[in-house]
Amino acid sequence: MKKLLIHGGSVVTDTTIERQDILLSVTGEIEEIHPKIPEKHGEEFLDAAGLLIFPLLIDCHVHFREPGLEHKATMETEARAALAGGVGTVCEMPNTDPPTVTIAALADKIRRASKIAGCVIKFFFGVTEDAHLHALRELWTGTSMELKRMKHHCAGVKVFFDHSTGNQKVTADLAGEVFKVCGELKIPLVAHCEDPGINQTSARNQKPETRNIALHSLMRPPESEAVAIERAIGLAQKCQTPLHIAHLSTTQGVALVRAAKKSGVSVTCEVTPHHLFLTTDDYEELGTLGKMNPPLRTPDHRTALWEGIADGTVDCVATDHAPHLLAEKKVADPLSAPSGVPGVETMLPLLLTVAAGQSPQPNQKLKTKNQQLSYSDIVRLCFTNPNRIFSLGQDGIQKKAHARLVIIDPSVSSVITPVNLRSKCGWTPYEGWETTGKILRTVQ
Ligand code: DOR
Ligand code: ZN
Repeated sequence: MKKLLIHGGSVVTDTTIERQDILLSVTGEIEEIHPKIPEKHGEEFLDAAGLLIFPLLIDCHVHFREPGLEHKATMETEARAALAGGVGTVCEMPNTDPPTVTIAALADKIRRASKIAGCVIKFFFGVTEDAHLHALRELWTGTSMELKRMKHHCAGVKVFFDHSTGNQKVTADLAGEVFKVCGELKIPLVAHCEDPGINQTSARNQKPETRNIALHSLMRPPESEAVAIERAIGLAQKCQTPLHIAHLSTTQGVALVRAAKKSGVSVTCEVTPHHLFLTTDDYEELGTLGKMNPPLRTPDHRTALWEGIADGTVDCVATDHAPHLLAEKKVADPLSAPSGVPGVETMLPLLLTVAAGQSPQPNQKLKTKNQQLSYSDIVRLCFTNPNRIFSLGQDGIQKKAHARLVIIDPSVSSVITPVNLRSKCGWTPYEGWETTGKILRTVQ
């Protein structure tokens, strides 16, 4: 290994973009970062003139399917997809088989993740029974070396207020207990907010004889999210729980989080690329490839999510990367197709396109006018904020830190094509979309 001089690039942080040379030691540590570092004999040289240098991003919401669902995806395939998409740290959800609801299941995932090079995988713990909550307490307060080491790999707790893939719905009583324990021990609690009662009634009212995929959005309506978020915020306030709302998708949801933040509740939230770029108008073209929970919403909701990004209500963009096989998606009855879309590999290209002042949607009709971002916003939403919220311990681009970088040519366009993607599922809801800003390589 030689030292590496990355010369002439612009380093993007959450507040600045500055021309900086970066010198890496033989072990990959940032030895120097300065506008002008003289080239020395014997160093490797990377010409980054005109290129952007981002920290490897964080995606705080992915489903990598291992163990138990390896036919859909594995840690190895999806970590490769993440890195190809400029994502170097992920927080993985507990709805695997077995689910991550015991210390043994967490230990197994940690062991599997230790074999994955280049991508840091942290895990959320799931709770659907009292015993799981006891295990969580043990994990968080245990004094043995082993438990302390394991806690370091756990990003927090995930609670589903209604069933989704994996059927991890928690009862109302247990949800209250989870909020209490997480409040007491200050464990980040991620909530999937959909109200089971409203979803059930809506599904019954739809009488979906036609089995049209668009009914999926009516069967899990915006009110369902709003009611569940209100409940989660109420519990967080009562129990002083560090609450993070997963995949916020509605106008009402954004308004509730905005108001809760104003009144001092400890709440953060994320939005997904699919809710930022797709709407119910896309069902016609996507069919079941546009089916996920929470579902696609009408365009007015998407506008509200972009407003939430603009005024700082939205803390993170996270993908809810949830690969299913095409064969599973293409079933005769669209409403029984599994919910979830891949996204870890396409998030950064889509966001870079917006930062370049363009729209990745091929159909101008599908565009939303307030779709706006800067390169620094991307670092804030996909690095700084998730890193802080889940205490992930990732260093930014700074002296003495181990370099974990993504190098991007902001001027190069490309078309999203399934054959070029690494996710095992082999499809994307963004097929044919043109993005501006190409991920050239990662350095770590
Ligand atoms: O669409 C979804 N897919 N939503 C979820 O809550 C779970 C996920 C999955 O695991 O497939
Ligand atoms: Zn999810």
